[in-house]
Amino acid sequence: MFNKRIKVKELLAMEPQGQEVTVMGWVRTFRNNQFIALNDGSTNNNIQVVVELGSYDDEFLKRITTSASLKVTGTIIPSLGKGQKMDLKATSIEILGDSDAEKYPLQPKKHSLEFLREKAHLRFRTNTFGSVFRVRHALAFAIHKFFNEKGFVYMHTPIITASDAEGAGEMFRVTTLPLDGTAPKNEDGTINFKEDFFGRSTNLTVSGQLEGELGATAFGDIYTFGPTFRAENSNTARHLAEFWMIEPEMAFYDLEDNMNLAEEFIKYIIKYAMENNREDLEFLAQRLAEEEKQLPQDKRSEMGLIEKLEFVLNNNFERLTYTDAIQILKDSNHNKKKKFQYEITGWGMDLQSEHERYLVEKHFKKPVILYNYPAAIKAFYMRQNDGCAEGQQTVAAMDILAPGIGEIVGGSQREERLDKLEARMKEMHIPIEEMWWYLDTRRFGTVPHAGFGLGFERMVQFVTGMTNIRDVIAFPRTPGSAEF
Ligand code: 4AD
Ligand code: MG
Repeated sequence: MFNKRIKVKELLAMEPQGQEVTVMGWVRTFRNNQFIALNDGSTNNNIQVVVELGSYDDEFLKRITTSASLKVTGTIIPSLGKGQKMDLKATSIEILGDSDAEKYPLQPKKHSLEFLREKAHLRFRTNTFGSVFRVRHALAFAIHKFFNEKGFVYMHTPIITASDAEGAGEMFRVTTLPLDGTAPKNEDGTINFKEDFFGRSTNLTVSGQLEGELGATAFGDIYTFGPTFRAENSNTARHLAEFWMIEPEMAFYDLEDNMNLAEEFIKYIIKYAMENNREDLEFLAQRLAEEEKQLPQDKRSEMGLIEKLEFVLNNNFERLTYTDAIQILKDSNHNKKKKFQYEITGWGMDLQSEHERYLVEKHFKKPVILYNYPAAIKAFYMRQNDGCAEGQQTVAAMDILAPGIGEIVGGSQREERLDKLEARMKEMHIPIEEMWWYLDTRRFGTVPHAGFGLGFERMVQFVTGMTNIRDVIAFPRTPGSAEF
């Protein structure tokens, strides 16, 4: 057996009393031919390995370079130096993998996030990305824990689909047909997808919701957690072409039940990270504070990262209708001074992220849930509210807006009435025949139901304070970029 190692995180929690241990990891730094800072990714803290002078020849010591991998056995003793609790006095050092320090792209100094994005295959070895991805892991785990405790069934919805769940047409095509002009054609010259792999036109899913609804109308409560794909040409700090989404779907829920669950869920996973990743969050808080020092005073956050997370845990999200939000925006000084790039034209307009962020960051200064949006700017499956004034039809939709991020959750109560749903689909040119299976849920024991989608990377951004979404997913896919 090769691996009888202890992880550094566990090791550093021990009381050093001369115990013998084996650690393995990568060299961060090597000082004075004597002190190796070894990191194994379990924590940002390194174990200081002490090499006894004279016990290794120079040739060997030269091979202990930044990012070389080592297996070290020794005894742990209280450290004489400042800055660490213990030293690992090496009795044996084995070099598992050499690393040419001249060629290794990361130097033991501060690199910009932009630079590290180009070295995404190695950036996990830095403190910032170590912390970000451990927090990402913890949040993913907390999500499963939350739903499992509530008796939800985790459902794996398909990645290749023939439907456009959001009806927005922002899809990546999946095909095995040739692109060299020889693909089979119909008489009118269009491509004949009957000849394609699935015998029809298919794409990568934009959302697992429609299949999720099929699950909810059998299990009651389900959730999905998987990759989703959007071919929207948005080159922003909060858009990815491939992102992960959590989509719970619940039978016997109305919009208010939906909002309650979403708020409880977000607080639960933040709390989990606060309790289990304190060290990483404190590191990230400090990193963010330093990053913000570069900004002009009025662009800096009012709260530090930890303070912000605590604030979110301890306060109710502000809930207001879309209609009230438009009124607030209209009446705002910001609007009167014409400071919005996109004008507030009035009821019916789609909110831009600057409007959402104004509400959250300037007006309410806390997370906000907006609900009851105009039907015209929302997806076909949302429940049409009864008793709306002429020309003011709303749907039971809700978006959760978070400080610094904007929209983090989008959800709704679903239209469970077959006639209303079909009418809406016709209006919006959604192919009714092809979606017979979806409509069957409304034919056979339809129930009030609701659900939402949380953008996982936006959530990770919120918790880690990372300003660019490309820095919270291992290998970001964005317009013009699919390296690694
Ligand atoms: O608001 P969206 O489009 O809603 C849906 O897909 C619904 N089917 C969800 C549901 O009700 N089950 O997307 C949900 C969330 C957004 O609020 C946002 O956080 C995230 O997904 N999101 C993105 N994240 C990163 N990059 C993108 N391009 C995103 N598009 C949406
Ligand atoms: Mg949305």
